[in-house]
Amino acid sequence: MKIGTPKESSPGENRVAMTPASAKDLQKLGYTCLIETGAGIAAGFSDQAYIDAGVEVVKTGAALFKAADIVAKVQPPSDTEVKRLQADQTLISFFYPAQNAALMEAANKKGATVIAMDMVPRISRAQKMDALSSMANIAGYRAVIEAGNNFGRFFTGQITAAGKVPPAKVLVVGAGVAGLAAIGTSTSLGAITYAFDVRPEVAEQVESMGAEFVFLDFKEEQQDGAATGGYAAVSSPEFAAAQLAKFREIAPDMDIVITTALIPGRDAPELWTKDMVDSMKPGSVIIDLAAERGGNCKLTVKDEKIVTENGVTIIGYTDFPSRMAAQASTLYATNIRHMMTDLTPEKDGQPNHNMEDDVIRGATATYKGEVTFPPPKPKIAAIAAAPKKEAPKELTAEEKRAKEVADFKAQTKNQVTLLVVGAALLLGVGLVAPASFMQHFIVFVLSVFVGFQVIWNVSHSLHTPLMAVTNAISSIIILGALMQIGSGSFLVILLAALSVFMTGINIFGGFLVTRRMLAMFQKS
Ligand code: NAI
Repeated sequence: MKIGTPKESSPGENRVAMTPASAKDLQKLGYTCLIETGAGIAAGFSDQAYIDAGVEVVKTGAALFKAADIVAKVQPPSDTEVKRLQADQTLISFFYPAQNAALMEAANKKGATVIAMDMVPRISRAQKMDALSSMANIAGYRAVIEAGNNFGRFFTGQITAAGKVPPAKVLVVGAGVAGLAAIGTSTSLGAITYAFDVRPEVAEQVESMGAEFVFLDFKEEQQDGAATGGYAAVSSPEFAAAQLAKFREIAPDMDIVITTALIPGRDAPELWTKDMVDSMKPGSVIIDLAAERGGNCKLTVKDEKIVTENGVTIIGYTDFPSRMAAQASTLYATNIRHMMTDLTPEKDGQPNHNMEDDVIRGATATYKGEVTFPPPKPKIAAIAAAPKKEAPKELTAEEKRAKEVADFKAQTKNQVTLLVVGAALLLGVGLVAPASFMQHFIVFVLSVFVGFQVIWNVSHSLHTPLMAVTNAISSIIILGALMQIGSGSFLVILLAALSVFMTGINIFGGFLVTRRMLAMFQKS
């Protein structure tokens, strides 16, 4: 059978549903691949690249729809494309059946089977086909890059010859797929990153990515706010008020705010109000990823970038994946290819549309002249519906102290055990080895022990300053030079003076460099 991908007809859509690499894989499944001429250009894939991958280039969209048994595309079909659908043809694309009932009906009337990539159930087995997550991941990443592009300062703090630059403070609201991608990108660029979500179970994930979870002083409700299926539920008015109060408190301090909060099937909750925007510093940036659904920020204008009177840039673009078309197409085409792999268990180029399969059933919106949306609940529980976890609670000062004492005790116990084992080993060696060997051996063992203790207890990120300070300490050899400086020989005095001078540079330089390095780790 033939799988064909037309050029996307929606204005500004740069993605393509088939790449040369995915076409090769589809051919291994037994399919013949077709592409409309120029379909991949905006994503960086030329017609020639497709031809080299064994794909047939078709001149027009109409010809492609006519020739293909399966049409794979990104955006839901336009009216013209629906008209081009044929009976027994399969269309695979984002479709949003809940919002596109008329379109679904029209496709069904044509007798086409519609597989909606946005309806792939979120179960473990289907992760490789989860195009919504692939795209949200890109959107989260791109949101940070877009913020950086509109922010006039560094993300990371720096000490330069021209002065100290404080690190940027980034707040990510909503830690779903897009939010977590934004957090990862922001922390990797060196910003101090904060994140908030109504689902407390994500606090651990947020913290493991190097960001700080913003806790509310509203314990029970925050836990009640967690939803089933890994999605959020609508918050109670009290909880929402506490959340807004917290945001109001931290808004003046934030340089960049990335909002991704979404409750399935509803408009985006309004979480960043006008007064919060007003309280932000000039030059701050808000990226509202929820712009498509009304926006989390009151002032967001869908698909636009605005600058408020107080100099805050608010971006409401809804096409972030398309702005990274090469990456987005690669991931989306791979999602489609995995869908085709599941549809073609025999690898014979003949799809087997198994409606007993949770994933295929879940994504199928129309089949054999029937509207099959909404699908029944998958037999396997959604990944996100894993047992609820308590969020790690913020410790009180006393709890922190008790934890430190317990950690210290455990560490001391380990060290004492190590020392006892070491001493026993030394004793054993001492019984058989000569005394002269033992003297050197003990110095060696002690140096290893002290060196290990010094380095092991220093966090990895501080190893570079540690090297610098070790360099300074190594200048202890200055003692040898000082002892020689009083000697009678002119040559020895000259050499000793030179040594003192050079080790002096080493000592002062080493400590100075260490100090500057450590200053870079201090968050302001
Ligand atoms: P998701 O459903 O995985 O995550 C949404 C998160 O928001 C969840 O963790 C949820 O708990 C949280 N949330 C809900 N209500 C909240 C509240 N009141 N306060 C704080 N957090 C709250 O969604 P995903 O896939 O991460 O997408 C996030 C957003 O990005 C969606 O609005 C989606 O439409 C949008 N998106 C935008 C794109 C663009 O180009 N602008 C592209 C792809 C996704």
